[in-house]
Amino acid sequence: MSTAPILSSHVVIENLRRGRVVTDAEFDRLFDPWVRECSDAHWTPVAAALRAVEWLEPSPDTRVLDVGSGCGKLCLVGALSSPATFVGVERRVALVRAAEAVARAFAISRAEFIHSDFPLVSWSDFDAFYFFNPFAEYLYGASHPTIIDDNTSEQPWRFDRAIQIVESRLAALPIGTRVVCYNGYGGDMPKNFHVKQWQKINDCYLRLWVKEARPRPVRNTSVGRAE
Ligand SMILES: C[S@@+](CC[C@H](N)C(=O)[O-])C[C@H]1O[C@@H](n2cnc3c(N)ncnc32)[C@H](O)[C@@H]1O
Repeated sequence: MSTAPILSSHVVIENLRRGRVVTDAEFDRLFDPWVRECSDAHWTPVAAALRAVEWLEPSPDTRVLDVGSGCGKLCLVGALSSPATFVGVERRVALVRAAEAVARAFAISRAEFIHSDFPLVSWSDFDAFYFFNPFAEYLYGASHPTIIDDNTSEQPWRFDRAIQIVESRLAALPIGTRVVCYNGYGGDMPKNFHVKQWQKINDCYLRLWVKEARPRPVRNTSVGRAE
């Protein structure tokens, strides 16, 4: 077990603003215990969030949408470590409030959170997208050990319908759009998205997909570097 001292919340935030890595234990202490307890299974690790932000190449004009933003870890890390605006759409109001509380407490103004169902947000307002298993829970029952809470009965979509909606939204995005997936969104990326970067972080693959005019070659697997 590590004996390193746990950093204070303000030091954690300052380190991220300066582009320094913090541990998940340090970051997760920004949240209440019930949010923290879901971290291993449901929230993007800080190391993956920092790498995702780097691959999204955010400028001050870039707006990134995290589809199913949970407690806002990707958006908060993104807004702290880059000049872009990160917006999360999340169906669980308690998680939206948890994310907003951290953004407010530390004046992280470029992290915004919308309490909504993901198709109700206009994707044309965004330049880049992030997914980490937003719909995996639709496949589990309420008794599954990793479920966030017991409101699975309120799931707005069946898994296959949610995937269809994402596929059609991705297909409509302009050439050049960057999409980062940690593990995935549950479906296949449309054929003209090419893998440009990938890295295994903890137990999942992080991949950068970029939309091009031509379809990817068949040999371009979903894991490997594209060309
Ligand atoms: C695995 S968590 C990922 C959270 C966050 N993106 C991250 O990487 O830390 C997936 C999240 O998607 C949310 N979600 C599921 N279906 C949704 C929907 N239809 N609209 C908005 N959010 C949804 C869940 O409530 C959950 O918080």
